[in-house]
Amino acid sequence: MNTATALNLDRQESLREEVLRGLRAQPRRLECKLFYDLEGSRLFESICEQPEYYLTRCEVEILERQGAAIASVLGPGVTLVELGSGSSSKTRLLLDALESPAGYVPIDISGEFLEESAAELRRVYPRLPIAPVVADFTAAMPAVAELDVPAERVVTFFSGSSIGNFDPDAAAALMRSAAAIGGAEGCLLIAADLRKDPKVLEAAYDDAAGVTAAFNLNVLGRLNRDIGANFDVDGFEHRAVWNPDASRIEMHIVSRGQQLVRVGGVSLELAAGEAIVSEHCYKYTIDGFAEIGRMAGLQREALWTDSGERYSLQLFSQSAGS
Ligand code: AVJ
Repeated sequence: MNTATALNLDRQESLREEVLRGLRAQPRRLECKLFYDLEGSRLFESICEQPEYYLTRCEVEILERQGAAIASVLGPGVTLVELGSGSSSKTRLLLDALESPAGYVPIDISGEFLEESAAELRRVYPRLPIAPVVADFTAAMPAVAELDVPAERVVTFFSGSSIGNFDPDAAAALMRSAAAIGGAEGCLLIAADLRKDPKVLEAAYDDAAGVTAAFNLNVLGRLNRDIGANFDVDGFEHRAVWNPDASRIEMHIVSRGQQLVRVGGVSLELAAGEAIVSEHCYKYTIDGFAEIGRMAGLQREALWTDSGERYSLQLFSQSAGS
């Protein structure tokens, strides 16, 4: 067996273990990072174009209308490190606004997708050093620390409101390490989606065209493909519900009937109506998100919202002495 195959088997084995751990827990869980195989990444891009999914349009509006203001706060010669960069399409708005950026380090879990987008970016910015990192960004911090990026003005950019996928303690821990990628002077530019009418939120996570449903259920097809599970995808349905106490949208994969599934050599019995939790998307108030920053030892330096105040981009620095 060659090394590449052995590595793939390793990866498949750790994927299998992780998946089984979640599926045996109560309530059953699948990590939301599992969404992003090539097909899932493409479906996510399509979610961003759905009329109900306001998040992307709000972020674009902020970057277009306030990019110059953001750039002037960040200053010249910034090295941008982006966590979960996806197609990097929105990042171009920021790169275009920045005054002579020094480098760009996109980090994403989807290797194929990252390579495609890095190639496209190199065409658009032939003089900008671009160093993509294929990694689960929660594990990528040490790798990034070793990259030879100029120590001054490293701005970690975490767009899309993906911070919402983390429970508050984990969100604070991630924000702390994200800001620290740039050393003691490093800062964090991060998108946080804001609390709003539950109807608007639920529609954003259950669009009429069914793209979010396909995205959610694709994780089952992905497990069939990658670890030889035998989910009958039509035997499940998509559900998105607002949990007001936790201030989050919860995405569930609901078993339509009682059924037996084989996953990585293990049989699991699912009851009719039983839900697998596939994602949490926390929504914050302006004050609530500053509090997460404080838990992370960070201080909010600036805040930009769209005209409808549905969504925010926020800049945090590492407060002295924390
Ligand atoms: C990529 C995590 C920001 O939470 O809105 C979109 C993922 N899930 N529709 C989000 C997602 C369902 C998205 N993030």
